[in-house]
Amino acid sequence: MKHIYRSNSCCGIHTTNQTILYRTLIGAPLELLYFGSRITDERTISALEGAASAPEAYPAFGGVYRRSPAFRVSKGSEQQHTSARLLFTGSEAADEQTLVLSLFDSYLQLEVSLIIEADYEYDMIGMYTRVTNCSDTSCIIDYMAAAFLPLSWKEGVLTNCTGSWAHEMHMNEQRLNPGIHITGERCGVRTTRFANPSIILSHGEHAVGEQTGICIGAAYAWSGNWAFLLDHDPDGTISLIAGDHPDTARRILTAGASYQMPHLYLTYSESGRGTVSRRFHRWAKQRMIPDAANPRSIVLNSWEAAYFDFDETLLLQMIDGAARIGIETFVLDDGWFGSDYPRDDDTQGLGDWQVQPAKLPRGLTPLIDRCRERGMTFGLWIEPEMVNPRSRLFEQHPEWILSAEHREASLERGQYVLDLSREEVLIWVIGTIEQILDQNPGIDYIKWDCNRDIKELSGGFAVYDRYVENYYRILEHLGERYPALVIQDCASGGGRVEYGALHRTHEFWASDNTDALQRIFIQWGTGMFYPPSVTAAHVGSETNHITGRHLPLAFRCSVAMSCRFGVELSPLALSGEDREFLCEAVSTYKGIRHLIVSGELYRLVSPYEQHHAAIMYVLPDRSEALLFVWELRFSVGSAYEQIRLAGLQEDRMYEVRELLAEHLEQHMMNPVRSGSEAMRLLTGEYLQRCGLAIAFRHEYDSRIFHFVMK
Ligand code: DGJ
Repeated sequence: MKHIYRSNSCCGIHTTNQTILYRTLIGAPLELLYFGSRITDERTISALEGAASAPEAYPAFGGVYRRSPAFRVSKGSEQQHTSARLLFTGSEAADEQTLVLSLFDSYLQLEVSLIIEADYEYDMIGMYTRVTNCSDTSCIIDYMAAAFLPLSWKEGVLTNCTGSWAHEMHMNEQRLNPGIHITGERCGVRTTRFANPSIILSHGEHAVGEQTGICIGAAYAWSGNWAFLLDHDPDGTISLIAGDHPDTARRILTAGASYQMPHLYLTYSESGRGTVSRRFHRWAKQRMIPDAANPRSIVLNSWEAAYFDFDETLLLQMIDGAARIGIETFVLDDGWFGSDYPRDDDTQGLGDWQVQPAKLPRGLTPLIDRCRERGMTFGLWIEPEMVNPRSRLFEQHPEWILSAEHREASLERGQYVLDLSREEVLIWVIGTIEQILDQNPGIDYIKWDCNRDIKELSGGFAVYDRYVENYYRILEHLGERYPALVIQDCASGGGRVEYGALHRTHEFWASDNTDALQRIFIQWGTGMFYPPSVTAAHVGSETNHITGRHLPLAFRCSVAMSCRFGVELSPLALSGEDREFLCEAVSTYKGIRHLIVSGELYRLVSPYEQHHAAIMYVLPDRSEALLFVWELRFSVGSAYEQIRLAGLQEDRMYEVRELLAEHLEQHMMNPVRSGSEAMRLLTGEYLQRCGLAIAFRHEYDSRIFHFVMK
């Protein structure tokens, strides 16, 4: 039990750089003694054990506790019992890195367990709770936190990411004045579109920097409703309360039943949010996202290239064109299915997963074969949770949609949500996907989309839980039955970017917005918690379809190359010069992608603060690094910048080479001055203290530099 500490009155758990400690007195409320940097000296622990008072670690509503509680219950025919008292009954080390702390309300006969898992090596703490109704009558759990963390902080700043469709993951900072602050979602599915269940909580009056400051990073792993409550007690405690959204948290717990909450993952840093991001990325790539330590393939997705308007001939030409560019996976997006109700726009056909004969008379096989012949893999778009009213499926099973009794079901994007909480729907979805995959051997990749929210349901909020559990069951089943299948988590772009879905998929589509300028902000926020190597970023067309902005191809490529690179335009629409540049970008990416996959992210210049932005990836042994710089708002007066690098070894020399440089020269729109540090040898010390000189040449200039230790 080397990571777990237990004495008569205290127990806790360590990771490489963190310790969490609780006061555990039988028959008393559990108290949080400490959460912070790793404690190595047992005398420090003894001193903490002797502390006169410490905040209650899982307070219930109805007792002396007067702030937002971790737990609320009601019981009795008129719910007359709303007061709970959870007292500590014992601890158990379930294994080398899992601590279970048990609390009990002896009147209500309710047991609540706090489970704390330490990932020692990756410096991550997982927390969740389980409640068991040990009585012989039902009760209602009105609210239950998956994690409750009362921090003895007088001041704090909340950093989180919010947005909307095509504008996801924009960063906000909010000083926590005394009172209750909430960020959350209750759309049932697609619940990360408006806000993401990941936050950075900074200690003090200001948000932490990239390399300095005390903070906690927390991410909730659940594809359903969620909320973080931050309750700032002016007496000097900020409680982080994570769990279901309070509006949808109510659950009936029958006699003998248990309910378990999802995980909150936490990491504590005294070196700013850069450390938080790097820890989350490392841990996610090794522990959470399947096969994420290996590179993803370069994708060409057909959506912005053709939308619903294609046939076999066009797709075969696109596959050939993609192969010539060096693309590794061709993905056929929406529009390939629906025979009685051809899917030629988004109003019909959803739910009828048979190939549309008018567009693809010979089925998918010629496309799959052509991909194989060209050395590429083949991917297919599906949206199995949804149905259009104009579809065979809806005609056969109108009762399968989620709706509220006595109310007309609402349409969104012309579709209904199938009630995945029902066993027969679950079985149908699994059968349908298996049929597509089994009848079309050679589908290596699926893009799993989900394009609306749950607006209404009957049967209580437990429907939300069963829906998400069944969604996970399907993904897990697919993972077992088709171990080589790559699944992209899409959900309108950015709608399911959280660790519950990512644990069961391989990469995600961060946003439908392919405008590279806006993507810099979207990817900036996304990268706070989620690894760029699984963040699909595609080069869109010169005039962006959503924003109408014109951006140089070099800029579009370099923004996409800083994540999981791909293309979202027709290779047939490219000019010869652009095709040549894209080929070069693809081949350059193949040579540097190991840095995106295994490198550690350093954010150097924020697009929120400057006219330019810069990030770096550095291999853990510091032998190689990659720098991306993007000019966002050009003015001649600020065309020259020294960008100070990070993560390098100061006493070693690095060979600096600019990538795509010759091609970039051709792509300069309004060259003011050209300047590059190409092929120079510089010390890590120089690069970090003095910085690399960058001369921006025009608006939306972009530069990529590769560093190799000599
Ligand atoms: C939303 C996705 O985010 C897009 O990439 C595309 O797949 C469309 N749905 C297709 O309907």
